Amino acid sequence: MTYDLPSAKTIAILEESLPHFTNQYTYQEKAAKSEAKGFKKPVQILVDHAHGDYLHDIDGNKYIDFQNGWATNPLGNTHPEVVDAVAAAHKKIGFHWEHAHRTPLAKKIAEISPKGELTRVNFEVSGTEAAESAAHLALAYKGRSHIITFSGSFHGCALGTKLISGFSGDTKRHLAGMMGTFITAPYPFSTDIPAGMTEDQYTDYCLWYLENHIPGSIAPEDEIAAIMVEPGLAEGGNWIPNTKFIQGIRKLCDEKGWLMIVDEVLTGVGRTGKMWGIDHYDVVPDILVFGKNLSGGVEALAGIAAKDEILGKCPNHVSGSTFAGTPAGCAAAMKTLEVIERDNLIDHANHLGEIANAKIAELEKYDVVKQARGLGLLLGIQFTDPSSEHENYMIAREVRSQMLKMGVWAICDHEETIRMYPALNMDEATLIEGLDIVEKAILKVMETGVTEGDYPAYPTGVAGF
Ligand SMILES: Cc1ncc(COP(=O)(O)O)c(C=O)c1O
Repeated sequence: MTYDLPSAKTIAILEESLPHFTNQYTYQEKAAKSEAKGFKKPVQILVDHAHGDYLHDIDGNKYIDFQNGWATNPLGNTHPEVVDAVAAAHKKIGFHWEHAHRTPLAKKIAEISPKGELTRVNFEVSGTEAAESAAHLALAYKGRSHIITFSGSFHGCALGTKLISGFSGDTKRHLAGMMGTFITAPYPFSTDIPAGMTEDQYTDYCLWYLENHIPGSIAPEDEIAAIMVEPGLAEGGNWIPNTKFIQGIRKLCDEKGWLMIVDEVLTGVGRTGKMWGIDHYDVVPDILVFGKNLSGGVEALAGIAAKDEILGKCPNHVSGSTFAGTPAGCAAAMKTLEVIERDNLIDHANHLGEIANAKIAELEKYDVVKQARGLGLLLGIQFTDPSSEHENYMIAREVRSQMLKMGVWAICDHEETIRMYPALNMDEATLIEGLDIVEKAILKVMETGVTEGDYPAYPTGVAGF
């Protein structure tokens, strides 16, 4: 059985939104051009309710959730204990800035931080703000002007994080006047490596670029404050960095007096099968950025953790906003961490990760699959069009739409990759059922080819979508 998507009911709501959300006219122009080429509306759904491993759309169709609220639900959808903790905090305090819930959470984050060494915490609302706060902390603490970040990296979509991120030149349009602070270095991707280099040679080149090219040709060594890296570059295509690269960054930072910032907004809190993605590399960063998973997918909470000396005395680091570390956000995070520990969910995620990674690796036998990449439950499948008739991303979005029709939701955001972020506590049988459907969807697309092409998705109320 397959669902008939996109449904008339969903399209009616999305049409009704058009006059109120951004880019109606861009959408309509692109849609007309795409329709003229014979492509049809891409599958979109609207969530009606979501519990545990599943969600239901407004037509009552049920889906296995590999999309996971954009990787924010480590305990599955609307986990009752987290929902209760949030409701209790709301009922008792609502919102006040001056409350006592940040202290136990800060102590807990210090305890679970890499090797317990990042003992100071500062709260924010979103991962975006937290990434900006980490960058400002490094600049202010070192009294320097530059931060090195990477191609393909994603740190958020506010003014500062557009400059920090390297995942698309397009997001930096019209910002040229602001771009002096951040230097984008090459990231060692594991496909499309230039000049026929091996991955190992390319990694050496990337480290050489950091060590020699930047100080030699771009900015003085003593003006660089930090290197900021995702230990699992998620939004940019689910790339898993190799050990040589991450340990090489730590060594360089130590030798040159630069700070190492890891952005764990997506990789943190069990996503990769360890508490932090950086824990796979036996490396302790100087500053860690957290968000998403930490507050159980129910309430917004983000922030940074840093070594004592860095955040303990840095009066020029300015950050924070009204809703940073709300009572309910802190309660959600405390409960989420309690359940993860109590139910040994990092071990469970590791176990599920082994099953899932073995399964997606098998899919490389299909010629539309370019590479399968995963670490724990950070899972990605990159696609290619073997006929070169269409752009690679069109194959990926087609597979993602077929998956939806067959009852599985994953992420494919204008990219060649389908990304899947199951909850850490997902039932093993459900995970396997979902992964079997991924394979069925690939086979279906190999049969039917590209049908959605470059037909745009309806704007859904957020600039950029
Ligand atoms: C690594 C990373 N940093 C920062 C962000 C921004 O977080 P938020 O969307 O909560 O602002 C994201 C979001 O996907 C992310 O993946």
